[in-house]
Amino acid sequence: MSNAEIPAEHLDVILKAGLRVPDHGALNPWRIKVIKGDSLKYIDENIIVKEFLNQNPKADEVSIDRESKRLQRASVVIAVLSCPIENSKIPEWEMRLSSGAVCMNILSCAQFLNYAAQWLTEWYAYNDNLLKYLGGDIKKDKISGFIYLGHKKEEPTERKRPDPNNIISFV
Ligand SMILES: Cc1cc2nc3c(=O)[nH]c(=O)nc-3n(C[C@H](O)[C@H](O)[C@H](O)COP(=O)(O)O)c2cc1C
Repeated sequence: MSNAEIPAEHLDVILKAGLRVPDHGALNPWRIKVIKGDSLKYIDENIIVKEFLNQNPKADEVSIDRESKRLQRASVVIAVLSCPIENSKIPEWEMRLSSGAVCMNILSCAQFLNYAAQWLTEWYAYNDNLLKYLGGDIKKDKISGFIYLGHKKEEPTERKRPDPNNIISFV
């Protein structure tokens, strides 16, 4: 994935696709945080690598170097936060699923536009300080994923896919 800039009009289409998702009760139980430009480096150096070192004080140089460039692998990283509405008659589970749909629509739209796009969580999706920095409430919100977007350097190799017979059955 190359981190050359993604045109603003494409990013706009991708982000709006993320909002066109099934949402029981129209609660909008998600937030989208777009991380690009200097913010990628800022978060890498001021949050991710610091949190990594807190958890791994004896980390070697290779790991520290990797953790200090996590977000900078992409041109844009879209963090999708699941922010369930409390005391709603809509089950929380459905709000969480809707947040997954936000991630998937962003991913599908970006791939349709021929960008390299990947949905990752990695350890820092579960880090409270990063969640707080992104505006989440650590008591109830979760990071559903980081969608990494960039320009393709090469076509991705296809992974092994499940045998439909193991997954699909007709009832
Ligand atoms: C919620 C979620 C989190 C994921 N987190 C990671 C991750 O942290 N690291 C990773 O290598 N793949 C992760 N994946 C898998 C990748 O998104 C993806 O499936 C894989 O890179 C291959 O992409 P493809 O299935 O489109 O070929 C995650 C998938 C989901 C749904």
